[in-house]
Formats: sequence, C-alpha cells, structure tokens
Amino acid sequence: MARRRIIAGNWKMNMTPTEAKALVETLKPLVNNPDVDVVYCVPAIDIVPVVEAVKGTNVEVGAENFYIEDKGAFTGEISAPMLLDAGVKYVIIGHSERREYFGETDEFLNKKVLKAFASGLTPILCCGESLELRERNAYKEWIGLQIKADLEGVTADQVKSMVIAYEPIWAIGTGKTATADQAQEVCALIRNTIAEMYDTDTAEAVRIQYGGSMNAGNAAELLSKPDIDGGLIGGAALKPDFGQIVNA
Ligand code: 13P
Repeated sequence: MARRRIIAGNWKMNMTPTEAKALVETLKPLVNNPDVDVVYCVPAIDIVPVVEAVKGTNVEVGAENFYIEDKGAFTGEISAPMLLDAGVKYVIIGHSERREYFGETDEFLNKKVLKAFASGLTPILCCGESLELRERNAYKEWIGLQIKADLEGVTADQVKSMVIAYEPIWAIGTGKTATADQAQEVCALIRNTIAEMYDTDTAEAVRIQYGGSMNAGNAAELLSKPDIDGGLIGGAALKPDFGQIVNA
C-alpha cells in the first residue's frame, strides 16, 4: 500500500501576518504538486490570513500548538474548536522545542493527541532524541518510550490517519542533518513500534516524516528511504527551497 507523501513546513515564531501572506504568494507556484500533501504549520496569529491566502491551492494549514480544553479561563491559549473554525486541519504536538522550553511532558502530550483526535484535528506527533542520548546509544529505547507514552489510548484507526515526525534534536536548526540511513533506521523503528502496539496494517498506513535541517540539497536522498514518507521542515520552509523539497 503506497503512502501519500506529506511535506510540512513548521514556520515556528518567524512570520508576521504580513510576511506570512507574502511567503504564501512566493511559494504558490513552487509547491503545486498534486501527488504530495503540502502543509504550512504557522503561528496562531498567521492562521486566518494564511488560510485565506492558500484558498484554491493544494496547501492545507496546520497549527503549531493548541490547548486541551474547548473554552474557558485559559489566558493566552487557543482551542481545537477555534482552530477548526478557522480552517486548520493539522496540529503539531510534542515538538522538542515545546517539550524543552514549555515543559510539555509525555503525559500532557498524550492528552493533546487524544484531544486532537476527539476534535477532528490530525496530529503531527514529534519525537526525537538529544545528542547525549544518541551518543550513549540510548536513542532507540527513548523513541520507543516516547511513542508508547504519547499514543496511550489512541485507536488503530486513529493512528492510521495521523503523522509522526522523527526529529533528532541535534539536527534541528543546526545544519547537521541525520544521514539518510540514520533517519531511516529510526523511522523504521517507529513503524515497528506501531506494529507491536497495534498491527502491521496500522504500521503500514501511518505516515512518518523526518525533520531536522532538511533542505533542497538533502531532501531527495532522505525521501528515497522506504520508511520516510515526508518531511517536517523548519528553516528551509521559509524560503523558495521549500518548493524543491516538495518536488524532491
Ligand atoms: P530545521 O529544519 O530548521 O532544522 O527545523 C526542523 C524542525 O524543528 C521542524 O519541526
């Protein structure tokens, strides 16, 4: 069963609404590929203008974050119903920057994954190890534990519809990409973990991305690997290079 490729940009905290609209216009002719799912995960304040700007194109919009309650006294937070009403389809959950700088634990991330499914958002669940864990050769165990904890209570059908992103922390924003073999090794391990937790059908259906200094130069090799179904792109998603990655 062929998995459809998914290339997502994680714009992080970079674009003002005005800049975001201009970036959508710049990328429009470059990302027009009917064989690939293209997603822009954008800061909350950019969601409304970006949804408007991508109308009539193949691009879907994702959020970089959300909160697990539907409404109420949670100053500064944004709920799933708000995102859905604005036209958002995907949401990034468990990015290492949120785990590290905002103290998001696996227990909390599991609640977010369950809430996203209950609301109708598609999670892009991130996992990945630090340099220290990689050097101690403890990364495989770590990734397995993250996946198991974050997916507790999630059904097989839900897993089939979601996206998992392997993002080694040491490769994020560092220019130091995992080699295609290193990325493939962990993406295969994630798929095997899903097969153990669920079944092979589910493991074959879930889409797994690589993220971490992916760019126009290394995308084709990474995407040629059997268990890498796409990319989650930071820095290079803000440039015309993103079009080359979509078409790699
Ligand atoms: P870079 O592509 O800038 O390394 O960022 C990767 C990332 O964190 C995507 O979520």
